[in-house]
Amino acid sequence: MDRSTVVARLRQAGCVFAEEEADILLAAAKDSCKHEATHSCAHEAASCHGAPSELLGEFLARRVAGEPLEQIVGWVEFAGQRIAVAPGVFVPRQRTALLAQQSILAVQAAKSAKSAEAARVAEALKSAEAANLGEAAKSVQVAKSANRGDKEVRFLEAFCGVGPVAATVSRAVPGTRIHLGDHDETALDCARMNAGPQAHFDLLDCLTGLPETLTGGFDVISAVPPYVPDSAAEFLPHEAVDYEAQTALFGGADGLDLIRRLICESCKWMAPGGVVLIELGSDQQHTAVEFATAKGFAVSSILGEDGQTVVLELRSRD
Ligand SMILES: C[S@@+](CC[C@H](N)C(=O)[O-])C[C@H]1O[C@@H](n2cnc3c(N)ncnc32)[C@H](O)[C@@H]1O
Repeated sequence: MDRSTVVARLRQAGCVFAEEEADILLAAAKDSCKHEATHSCAHEAASCHGAPSELLGEFLARRVAGEPLEQIVGWVEFAGQRIAVAPGVFVPRQRTALLAQQSILAVQAAKSAKSAEAARVAEALKSAEAANLGEAAKSVQVAKSANRGDKEVRFLEAFCGVGPVAATVSRAVPGTRIHLGDHDETALDCARMNAGPQAHFDLLDCLTGLPETLTGGFDVISAVPPYVPDSAAEFLPHEAVDYEAQTALFGGADGLDLIRRLICESCKWMAPGGVVLIELGSDQQHTAVEFATAKGFAVSSILGEDGQTVVLELRSRD
């Protein structure tokens, strides 16, 4: 099948960017036949050993039926990197780049604060060591290694899906301890490919299921919980409603059910001075800010360039 046929079929099916999509499908079909099926989670079930034209035909048929392009080819471009996705999972949206950017800034700020604190403690320990030789030296050594461990920043992407925010933070701030959690195992499998070999993964219900040892341990928690109001289903594109899990999209009557849960549950897991960053819609901001303030958080917010995406920043008032 040649390019012009692919473009024509895509255009007929209502694809606005038919040329661009045709090129992506052609490249993906060629690529998949060159490599083993395991190279991308989206292709595990596909017959990658067939001719490129066979695979292209299959990809095209899926796209014409309405499946998101990203789920077909197995990746999405996000914040300058390719993020693996699979059929059925939530495809990261470009608007979430704002949350990724704010997360990087928060992790960098936590890292600077910890380095400054560690330098201060190291100086104090040095003086203590000089003054207390013998028995005290041992406890000084213990305190020193604890101080080294404390310098690491712990970041959690809750409701991670395929983990676009964690992947971006991991790449931008090496050395960060990256954790991810979601209730969808397929999404977590993709997140494993995206967030790097050092990351930790937990099957979670909101934050329930995190190891107790991490209580009070997260310097930054970032999340895009499902926040579409149940009644807004008719305004979503068919691609989302038909090909992404409903539980990845909808957040109850006002869309804030899981955001309220996250706000309540995060108190237990935040480190002193920690921050929680949450993406939501600008029309939901007022209600969410009121709720978080009533729960004892100091709240600020950033509005995205699209005028619709907001990132809330919650800090404990203590
Ligand atoms: C809107 S998607 C966001 C995914 C990802 N952060 C992103 O931006 O691409 C919401 C995610 O929350 C997960 N989710 C929904 N309800 C959950 C729950 N109760 N506990 C944990 N994860 C949940 C879904 O599986 C989905 O991956």
